[in-house]
Amino acid sequence: MQTTEIRIVVQEFENIEELPVADRNLLLEARRITSQAYAPYSGFHVGAAILLDNGQIVLGNNQENSAYPSGLCAERVTLFYANASYPNSAVKTIAISASKNGALVEEPVKPCGGCRQALAEAELRFENSIRIILDGRDKILVLNGVESLLPLSFSKKSL
Ligand code: THU
Repeated sequence: MQTTEIRIVVQEFENIEELPVADRNLLLEARRITSQAYAPYSGFHVGAAILLDNGQIVLGNNQENSAYPSGLCAERVTLFYANASYPNSAVKTIAISASKNGALVEEPVKPCGGCRQALAEAELRFENSIRIILDGRDKILVLNGVESLLPLSFSKKSL
């Protein structure tokens, strides 16, 4: 038996002003689109902003449904919209924000497992790491690749 350790690196920023300017602008876009989420059932509004390698910024938010599983998270709405609109452009960065009762969540928002899997596919598809910015009132986290969100993931390499 052998034990191995998997390390992830997480950068913590105290507030949005601390972020490099391109990240700050992307996160501001994520915050803006959060307010347009369709989340009448959970009241949890999530917004995402994706920067593509062609310079385009694509925005999306969570879309709920009275048949709950038919809704979709902000990350996948945005990622699929980006891939559908610009199928040859790699995702460089995704910024994610969330609000409850109109206020930014205190703890940084963490993508669900399904969204992590979709982001992992997007990395492999274009063979580039995706930076991930997770917004919160108390701190903002930045990860330099999906491996940090989803280690030991399933991928086409296993097929
Ligand atoms: N949600 C997202 O959009 N992204 C996440 O990372 C977590 C959860 C949405 C799904 C649902 O509309 C609401 O938040 C509550 O789970």
